[in-house]
Amino acid sequence: MSVKVLMVCLGNICRSPLAEGILQAKLPNNYIVDSAGTANYHVGTAPDKRSVVTARKFGVDISQQKCRQITKSDFENFDHIYVMDTSNYKNVLAIAPNEAAKQKVKVILNELHPDKNLEVPDPYYGDMQGFEHVYKLLDEVCEVIAAKIKS
Ligand code: 4NP
Repeated sequence: MSVKVLMVCLGNICRSPLAEGILQAKLPNNYIVDSAGTANYHVGTAPDKRSVVTARKFGVDISQQKCRQITKSDFENFDHIYVMDTSNYKNVLAIAPNEAAKQKVKVILNELHPDKNLEVPDPYYGDMQGFEHVYKLLDEVCEVIAAKIKS
């Protein structure tokens, strides 16, 4: 059975597009991976160029992704909803329609460091080093997620 994973950040242009591309690249094609933002600032646009360039440097193409905002139907359509930070967590829980939906929402780095609620930092106002740091964090945790959902 194919598993469906949604990656969520604030803008859906920096972190969650990277998380989507990285996890998809580690999984067979029948696993659905998508991403969305809690905000609607950038709906319809491609990911931030700095995320596109960073992903390309490591062999992952995210250039064709389009930004969208999370919706209530995502809680039905996806099995796991991974958020990047505690602010995303609060915002996503606030629109979760029921308890089963809430159970699907997880802070992504808890897959590496259980219960610590560590955050994938928002690189938007920083430099390329910040994007590379985010890439490496997500690559490490997506390795764990891929192994877990394939097993
Ligand atoms: P993201 O980063 O949540 O990783 O996509 C951000 C992108 C845009 C903004 C904030 C964070 N913004 O304020 O426009």
